[in-house]
Amino acid sequence: MSGRLEGKLALVSGGGSGLGKATAEHLAEEGARVAVTDIDPATAEATADGINASFQGAAIALRHDVTDGAAWSRVLGDTRDAFGGLNILVNNAGISIHGNTETMTEDNFKTLLDVNVTSVFLGCQAALPLMAETGRASIVNISSVAGKMGNPNTIGYGTTKAGVAYMTKCVALDCAQKGYDIRANSIHPTFIETPLIEQFLKDEADLQRLHDLVPLGRICKPRDVTYAIVFLASDESAMMTGSEVVIDGGLSCGYTPKATSEEK
Ligand SMILES: NC(=O)c1ccc[n+]([C@@H]2O[C@H](COP(=O)([O-])OP(=O)(O)OC[C@H]3O[C@@H](n4cnc5c(N)ncnc54)[C@H](O)[C@@H]3O)[C@@H](O)[C@H]2O)c1
Repeated sequence: MSGRLEGKLALVSGGGSGLGKATAEHLAEEGARVAVTDIDPATAEATADGINASFQGAAIALRHDVTDGAAWSRVLGDTRDAFGGLNILVNNAGISIHGNTETMTEDNFKTLLDVNVTSVFLGCQAALPLMAETGRASIVNISSVAGKMGNPNTIGYGTTKAGVAYMTKCVALDCAQKGYDIRANSIHPTFIETPLIEQFLKDEADLQRLHDLVPLGRICKPRDVTYAIVFLASDESAMMTGSEVVIDGGLSCGYTPKATSEEK
């Protein structure tokens, strides 16, 4: 532990799996106390237990459906009761449903909006008073490189992630205008090795195809992303608000055909 988040109080949504679990663990390693929330309370408990085994009393687990405004009030109240405030909110919970303009169903499109976008709005709105009261606060919204690049098969998911980036700028400017000591930034990773992506992969060849899409030759490990979350959550990024931090191994830079032997 290097203590970059010593004394900070955090809440990570969707902390029972994948990136949220890795984020909660990394924040705790850097000295934060973390409320781990998830719609699946058993997985949130497992993450919190793992953290407490290394850093006693650093984590609590809370059942939380991020699409429910009343649930946000409850988990923030519980976090305040347990820790006394909130400096870091990581809006991480999210889902992906593939589909193009013709195959995406209305129900699935609305579900994506609810879980990936309305949730972030509800979380930011509910957390602002507690964060303003606590001070030195940072909101990190997990978007995706899918919110920056068109893809015919992610019309729902990509639209929600573009919405998260836009919303983050609105929250950042609102806080700045009101003189709140709260920053808000979004993170845009390429594919990450988590259960979310594994559900779309049939075999090793599918995984290799994803690695090959990325100019740096591989998809993200959760740590590639949590280093940026720790930075944005910490006071090291004190002059950053409304920013989009891209972690995509060069994917969104442009078209990258394989070099010919003459070009090598
Ligand atoms: N895995 C990737 O390739 C990738 C790439 C870019 C961005 N992201 C984003 O990272 C975030 C985390 O994704 P992940 O890959 O770790 O996925 P994951 O499926 O491993 O974890 C998501 C977690 O969110 C929880 N969750 C789902 N719906 C919820 C709800 N309504 N309320 C509360 N919790 C809920 C799930 O129970 C799960 O624990 C998402 O916002 C995702 O869009 C993922």
